[in-house]
Amino acid sequence: MIPLSTPYLAGNEWQYVKECLDTGWISSSGDFVGKFEEAIGQIVGCAHTVACVNGTVGLQMALQVGGLNPGEHVLIPNLTFVATANAVHHAGGKPILIDVDKDFWQMDLDLLEDFLASQTFQIEDETGISTYYLITKKRIAFLMPVHVLGYMGDMDRLAKIAEKYHLKIVEDSTEALGSTYKGQHAGTFGDFGVFSFNGNKIISTGGGGMVVCKNPADAAKLKHLINQAKSHSEEYTHDETGYNFRMVNVLAAIGLAQAEQFSSHLSRKKEIAEAYRVGLKDVTEISFQRISPKVDSNDWLFTILLENPAGLQAFLQKQGIQTRKLWVPMNQLPMHSTLHYISGKDQSDLLYKKALSLPCSVGITESQIIHVIGKIKEFLGVNHF
Ligand SMILES: Cc1ncc(COP(=O)(O)O)c(C=O)c1O
Repeated sequence: MIPLSTPYLAGNEWQYVKECLDTGWISSSGDFVGKFEEAIGQIVGCAHTVACVNGTVGLQMALQVGGLNPGEHVLIPNLTFVATANAVHHAGGKPILIDVDKDFWQMDLDLLEDFLASQTFQIEDETGISTYYLITKKRIAFLMPVHVLGYMGDMDRLAKIAEKYHLKIVEDSTEALGSTYKGQHAGTFGDFGVFSFNGNKIISTGGGGMVVCKNPADAAKLKHLINQAKSHSEEYTHDETGYNFRMVNVLAAIGLAQAEQFSSHLSRKKEIAEAYRVGLKDVTEISFQRISPKVDSNDWLFTILLENPAGLQAFLQKQGIQTRKLWVPMNQLPMHSTLHYISGKDQSDLLYKKALSLPCSVGITESQIIHVIGKIKEFLGVNHF
């Protein structure tokens, strides 16, 4: 089987995990958490990083620390992994779904601007100006772009929109470690950025997350909250209802070893994506996600569009090649189907019906990529030599 996207553990993972086991520091204390936080901070260029159990709770905590109140709105794209919407719910908020654009597959900023201009009003009080949704009369507190599949949208425009409507930004950059827009790293544009290290990500701790905070006070608050809001190092005093969401040392040990190999993983991901783009460029039945020249993507999960992805998926499965469909759009999921969905042509649905992600593990070989390309061409009846 050629798998879709598996971890690549070729560095100091064994040594660092052994160190944890030998010393007994496998749990919530130990050096590796801090070292892993520092290593991710160095990769993305931000000093205020907090490790946590996964990306989903990282998003939830970012919203809570950022000041989301119960029932307030968060603007998210309709095409994303369900964790984005779930995190908003867990933080007590209500997502408003914005459709994505057909070329870049990111939140459609034309739709977003139209919506904000026509369906909201602003109120000024002693805390400043806030934007409210006309229909629910609830504050729209956050804009949460998702860097879908590691690619990025127009971050300059997004930041201007957020400023104009007084929205805080939490970037769901769970898939985008290493991606940049005009040289600046994903996760560092917003008040908060969140990364995931689950098994299929560019580096993995098995399960894990990291919140990057612009403001050091937010990082301190977040760290406190995910550590049961413990307010004294020896006494069991806690000053609010906290969470047990911190990352354990043994997973951070894997994370540090993975972070040390990050640049080689990143270049390999780019090579894989380029090999597919070149190998499939003459196949007229297939198109790709567009990339803006301002974006340098981490090419996390290489994905194509075609008319019959289910047929290709079944064919490749028989050949021992694992592929993956894109997420069911949020507005089509039962628990999110009543949310307000801002859309024109429902591009999320069109993309969902046409997309298929191809094997792109860091460890995939050139001959495996050539084999996958050959099998795709065979399925489509395209001659290849
Ligand atoms: C877009 C998106 N958001 C959120 C998450 C949640 O991250 P995690 O699986 O670490 O909770 C993921 C990853 O799985 C994701 O792809």
